[in-house]
Amino acid sequence: MGSNNPDSSPDSPPDSSSPLITLTNPTPSELPKIFTLSHPKWGPALTLQDYLDREAYLTTVPLSKNGGITHWLLTLSSPPSPSGERPILASCESIKKRAFYTTPSGSVREGVAHGIASVFTDPEYRGRGYASRMMSDLGQRLKTWQDGGEDRPVVFSVLYSDIGKGFYAKHGWAPFRSSHISWTPSSAAESPRGKGVKTIGYHELAELCAVDERLLKERLAGLAKEDGGKKRHVALAPELDQLLWHLMREDFMTKHIFGRTPEVRGAVAGEKGRRVWAVWTRGYYGGLGKTEGNTLHVLRVVVEDEENTAEEELVEGFKAIVGIARAEADEWRSHDVQMWNPTGLVRGLVEKIGVEYEFVERDKESIASLMWYGEEEGEEVDWVANEKYAWC
Ligand SMILES: CC(C)(COP(=O)(O)OP(=O)(O)OC[C@H]1O[C@@H](n2cnc3c(N)ncnc32)[C@H](O)[C@@H]1OP(=O)(O)O)[C@@H](O)C(=O)NCCC(=O)NCCS
Repeated sequence: MGSNNPDSSPDSPPDSSSPLITLTNPTPSELPKIFTLSHPKWGPALTLQDYLDREAYLTTVPLSKNGGITHWLLTLSSPPSPSGERPILASCESIKKRAFYTTPSGSVREGVAHGIASVFTDPEYRGRGYASRMMSDLGQRLKTWQDGGEDRPVVFSVLYSDIGKGFYAKHGWAPFRSSHISWTPSSAAESPRGKGVKTIGYHELAELCAVDERLLKERLAGLAKEDGGKKRHVALAPELDQLLWHLMREDFMTKHIFGRTPEVRGAVAGEKGRRVWAVWTRGYYGGLGKTEGNTLHVLRVVVEDEENTAEEELVEGFKAIVGIARAEADEWRSHDVQMWNPTGLVRGLVEKIGVEYEFVERDKESIASLMWYGEEEGEEVDWVANEKYAWC
């Protein structure tokens, strides 16, 4: 009632700028209502019940468990009726993450970042400024949300816009580089496994993540040194919990779609100290009926020691890794393999392995966007390791 003519309806929620509206956290009984609204958009590969179960499960996995995830709701400050039921004007969630950043003196510090996801307005309430109000309130709220005191402040928040670059930029999240390499799937027979390459399972990840984190901090320090501390070089931690969040989400999806979970979560080539590896996850938006919605996403690519590894060794190793990724994509009904924002070095490897690929600059979907909470106005931010692992 009244949704087309909100001003004339006594039941219609107030204008989006009204002080009667607030950004708060939904109650446990409001959560399923929020997810039921977004199921057609984000859960078509699952039944409604499985989607509700997945969202509940995603509050129990690494990174988001124990309050790591916060659900947000834009609603009325006071319940409009004695039953206490509040309208769900807009909703989203944020996940607390470890982040690194460089200071003007060139040191690398650790802080808190928030990844924002699932921004949604009930179709009945769209176009009335509720998502805008939620985002402008949320951007400010997250500045101090779950901070770790003076030593571990909240330094930035990120999101991945599926509605282009304009909407979130208007509310303070600047769009960053959003490109990817895409390969088609290819059967294992067409992608023979090279010598010296091994697949990565759950139990290999902890060591790889620890090495990755050390190398990433060194890289940040190097970048700060290069520009004399001019820019803030920032990155989300490519830590074990961050990768497990993706893999356990993948487990839920594959269990429901295929009745089993994959073993191969990436591949690594070369001797310890001179390795190249990639970790990946399968994403299913289309399920088995619409495989165009399914992608095998490379979460993170690491070259352990560029300087001391012969180029042929890197090329051979990377080629074998891409071969395994393509074969996994084929087996697990993915439409393509995507690798986000490769570094110059990895882009060079992509060229040299001789496997046909497509390079895509995205301008509408998954636009990596960042709001910086640094103290100085106008600080220039360089988002390092802007790869899929940071997505949520
Ligand atoms: C995107 C969404 C959250 C906007 O909610 P809303 O409450 O209608 O937003 P507002 O009224 O505050 O603002 C609407 C603005 O969003 C823009 N917008 C909405 N959908 C858009 C789309 N698909 N592409 C580009 N811009 C879009 C409108 O053009 C408008 O821009 P304006 O501020 O310049 O006028 C809502 O349409 C929605 O829930 N969509 C489905 C889920 C989704 O795609 N979420 C975004 C994930 S990144």
